[in-house]
Amino acid sequence: MSEPWTRKEIIGDATLYLGDCRDILPTLGKVDAVVTDPPFGVGFKYASHDDRPEAYEGGYGVWLWSIIEAAERLLPAGAPVFVWQAGPHIRHFGEWFPRDWRLFVAAKNFVQMRPTAMQYAYDPVVAWWTPGAKPWAAGTASRDFHIANTAPVVATPQNIEKGHPCPRPVDQVGHIIDQWVAPGSVVLDPFTGSGTTGVAAVRSGRAFVGCEMEPAYFDIACRRIEEAYRQPRLFDEPPPKPVQGSMFDGEAA
Ligand SMILES: C[S@@+](CC[C@H](N)C(=O)[O-])C[C@H]1O[C@@H](n2cnc3c(N)ncnc32)[C@H](O)[C@@H]1O
Repeated sequence: MSEPWTRKEIIGDATLYLGDCRDILPTLGKVDAVVTDPPFGVGFKYASHDDRPEAYEGGYGVWLWSIIEAAERLLPAGAPVFVWQAGPHIRHFGEWFPRDWRLFVAAKNFVQMRPTAMQYAYDPVVAWWTPGAKPWAAGTASRDFHIANTAPVVATPQNIEKGHPCPRPVDQVGHIIDQWVAPGSVVLDPFTGSGTTGVAAVRSGRAFVGCEMEPAYFDIACRRIEEAYRQPRLFDEPPPKPVQGSMFDGEAA
């Protein structure tokens, strides 16, 4: 039987699959957390995925939940699930997410700059923990909101995520991983896009498993995750050597 993916790339502790997550998820092994930013069903222009509300068979909520549930089956007890959502969908969350969920507020700092009426100035992230064990938390600043600097992903002409229509700010995803995904965990994102969750996972020393159906986005994700590995990671950097000699005689260490 052939594999349900057309490419599989292993980059450090990250494994990326090119293909439809609905086919790939049932073949995956256990993971420790689901952190994902799915299409919102609002008619966004993706290269291959049709995001028009009427394109979702059975309705957007049914489509999304079937995938989240398949991802949830790979988790142990007490594991976190974070699902980015669109503000206009908030009224449907009770019907779409049959869990004891809460909302993390992922705010965007560029929206308020527009001189219009009140905006959808944040993305609600629906979050819950699988029952049966106490969830892990960093115990530092486990606040339920984060204001991300979105300028790098929307404003600069040379930004690295430019090839994807809606990249997430890395520090927004990184905040969630740092606060609620235990060190040493494997983070799953069935909707990898340009690889932001993977970059955030790698930067915080967690392993990553991702699926993306569009080859152009998959290539960006692979490149960004490779780059994230090339950048020095503060948490496992050896401590700097003590400086030898005198600060007055110009001797280097
Ligand atoms: C909101 S975007 C993710 C953006 C990502 N967080 C980033 O920062 O680039 C959702 C992604 O899901 C992908 N997608 C949609 N349906 C899919 C499916 N069934 N399997 C795998 N990927 C899918 C789309 O191609 C799109 O790149």
